Amino acid sequence: MTTEHLLTPFDFHDMKIKNRIVMAPMTRARAGQQRVPNELMVKYYSQRADAGMIITEATTVSQQANGWNESPGIYTDEMADAWKTVVDAVHAKGSRIILQLWHCGRASHSGFHGGKPAVAPSAIKINGEYIHTPQGKQPYQTPRALQTDEIPSVIEDYRQAVMRAKSAGFDGVEIHGANGYLIDTFLQSKTNLRTDQYGGSIENRFRFLKEVFEAVATVWPKQKIGVRLSPNGVFNDMGSPDYREQFTYVAQQLNALQLGYLHVMDGLAFGFHELGEPMTLKDFRNVYHGPLMGNCGYDVAGAEAAIARGDADLIAFGRPFISNPDLVDRIRNGWPLAEPADMSAWYTPVGETGYTDFSTYADSTK
Ligand SMILES: Cc1cc2nc3c(=O)[nH]c(=O)nc-3n(C[C@H](O)[C@H](O)[C@H](O)COP(=O)(O)O)c2cc1C
Repeated sequence: MTTEHLLTPFDFHDMKIKNRIVMAPMTRARAGQQRVPNELMVKYYSQRADAGMIITEATTVSQQANGWNESPGIYTDEMADAWKTVVDAVHAKGSRIILQLWHCGRASHSGFHGGKPAVAPSAIKINGEYIHTPQGKQPYQTPRALQTDEIPSVIEDYRQAVMRAKSAGFDGVEIHGANGYLIDTFLQSKTNLRTDQYGGSIENRFRFLKEVFEAVATVWPKQKIGVRLSPNGVFNDMGSPDYREQFTYVAQQLNALQLGYLHVMDGLAFGFHELGEPMTLKDFRNVYHGPLMGNCGYDVAGAEAAIARGDADLIAFGRPFISNPDLVDRIRNGWPLAEPADMSAWYTPVGETGYTDFSTYADSTK
């Protein structure tokens, strides 16, 4: 199988990346209760630094943003200093690393917030089974709608997080606008029933993301800032009838804002809302003219074909990177991929098991 397109370096604005294979952001919940990156995380990311670029697991921008046990944050200097050790280890292996910025929004629980409700654009609960909280599995709760005058301080949290990301030496940040977390719920009509300037029309629903982007862009050049979207996704009870109009508009606007890259979960492997035809990378290429990254369910042949066709510049692999720390080497040499990892260790705090204990192909055949 040819993989020459995947293995070709890419000029990514002012930085060169060594291949088109990106490690997708994956929450792995190994940061401990203090949410501070540690040596185990340094090892995990460093093992995977054959990737042209790594996008970190989603990292919360404030205490209010939390909603996942033992996921890392970037809202204290201690967190930023600890991230620097991850960044340095990845750079030492010649890869690039981008921090994914996260606010869980309604996909959280009062158990993370001293008994106070989680916040969201509107008071609409996730229709789902349960959420893991610091007090164990709990039913989802109805979030509190953010007051209009509270929104600037949430945006300020993103700006502060990016100041810290910059000081930690990251190569850029990715604004997590996917998967039903705070920004996605502002974008989508299903979860945004606001009547102020942040809701009621496609333009208004985009305003929160736009203001986050603009705030972050006061800290770092726009080319350092990417955005991730999931137009087809159903995760966290998402999917809106006007998804196509909304996400086409968002892509057009992001194009005008000249962001660093657009990361689209175009594949359906993480669930599809089935409200119409899925949006494709081509749909996004038509309106967005900067670097485009595809993701979700790609195998090596599919990723190579997408880049060869020009549908995407980069492809992010998620699950394959869990059990194949040497994914790029395997692709380069045509070696088989390891069995998918057991889900029980995906994003549960179980230490090195199912995290840093996967062999490289070379080691497994010794
Ligand atoms: C364990 C795990 C954790 C994930 N955490 C995140 C995350 O923190 N941020 C995010 O945007 N997507 C997250 N995702 C979605 C992945 O980035 C990716 O979109 C998904 O795995 C599909 O790509 P794949 O088929 O290559 O695995 C996660 C997926 C998995 C399997």
